[in-house]
Amino acid sequence: MSESTTIRIATVGVGGMGGAHLKHITANKKAKLVAVCDVDKARADDVAAKHGATAYYDHREMFKKEKLDAVTIATPHYDHPGIAMDAFTHGLHVLSEKPIGVYVKAARKAVEAHEAAKAKYPGLVYAIMFQERTYLHYRKMKAMIQAGELGRLMRTTWIATDWFRTQWYYDHGDWRATWKGEGGGVLLNQCPHTLDMFQWLVGVPSKVTGHVSLGKYHDIEVEDEATAFFEYDNGMIGHFTAITAESPGINRLEIVGENGRLVLDGKALTFHRNSVSGLKHLREAASSFERAPFVTETVDYDDGQPTGHHVVVDKFLDAILDGTPLIAEAKEGLNSLAMSNAIMLSSFTGTKVSVPPDEDAFKAELDKRIATSKFRKHAATAAAIDFDASWKK
Ligand SMILES: NC(=O)c1ccc[n+]([C@@H]2O[C@H](COP(=O)([O-])OP(=O)(O)OC[C@H]3O[C@@H](n4cnc5c(N)ncnc54)[C@H](O)[C@@H]3O)[C@@H](O)[C@H]2O)c1
Repeated sequence: MSESTTIRIATVGVGGMGGAHLKHITANKKAKLVAVCDVDKARADDVAAKHGATAYYDHREMFKKEKLDAVTIATPHYDHPGIAMDAFTHGLHVLSEKPIGVYVKAARKAVEAHEAAKAKYPGLVYAIMFQERTYLHYRKMKAMIQAGELGRLMRTTWIATDWFRTQWYYDHGDWRATWKGEGGGVLLNQCPHTLDMFQWLVGVPSKVTGHVSLGKYHDIEVEDEATAFFEYDNGMIGHFTAITAESPGINRLEIVGENGRLVLDGKALTFHRNSVSGLKHLREAASSFERAPFVTETVDYDDGQPTGHHVVVDKFLDAILDGTPLIAEAKEGLNSLAMSNAIMLSSFTGTKVSVPPDEDAFKAELDKRIATSKFRKHAATAAAIDFDASWKK
């Protein structure tokens, strides 16, 4: 940390999401935005001028020249691990956008670099933007599971089809939905959140059977539809389906345990609570079809806690200052990425895949697709997308 307790911070990648980072950084008195970096020079200059910050076009130059404490990363996915690793060599705390990387091999190296850098820079923070962990319905569901209200978990089924995106969205930003520029579709861009929640609530599966459809409804290279079957060591099974073409879509999550079924349907949370364990009942009942008695309860989850991206940013700053726990440590982002890579690898190879998947096998499949990708990198980008409408869904 620099002499004062104000955190000197910069953001790399100041498009749509980078703009949101800047809003939350500048709203927090514990931070001072001193620089921004974007390969789009006009954008970097414009944003820097608006914030009275210095513009850079190469993050390495910024790390060398500026006296920084921390950086947030909001570039396209491939660059997340590399920029984080460069930051660690300068002892900078990092808040990375999701996903932690495109493939586990690169992301794992960033996590290892962070661990190694902590020897020289104790307390070095590496956080990831998983703002859905602040959402009150998910927090309540996790608390209920942890308190044992569901008992033995039997099935988790997530229909995440409210990630609707138009062709205009994909066309807006040349890196989007290309193998070379983005590295994946709905699983890698939208579903890091959903898969993170899946593993946060009920754990990481040990085996995955997946199927993805590439450009099924949109004119894109990557997947706009993904479906998976998860097997867990504890016997639970999981289903997962996500798509960016269903309108209206739905966010429906069912977690079934021996003590009942917890259902999130949009924002409504319901618990069908058994008065005896359904598994005990099926063993002991002296009748053929009668189910365990249950009651249906509407679950109130609004405890007034703040939610959203700003909470992740605020906790990141607090963690730097006094070790306050993060909303999500970046290393936890390896789990959702491993699940995402496993679904893709399973689909590409037509086989059941272990989690984490074989890193080299996944990279080889990705490289085959990158080789024929239409994406050609250039600095100028389209106007940034305003994501506010997406978060209000
Ligand atoms: N957490 C969320 O809710 C959320 C929402 C949207 C996007 N995101 C994530 O934010 C990231 C950025 O997405 P976006 O929609 O803002 O994209 P964008 O295209 O609007 O912005 C990306 C910016 O990064 C710049 N850039 C590219 N490579 C760079 C590099 N090496 N160094 C510096 N700048 C570079 C581009 O010029 C562009 O200005 C993605 O990882 C995306 O998944 C997160």
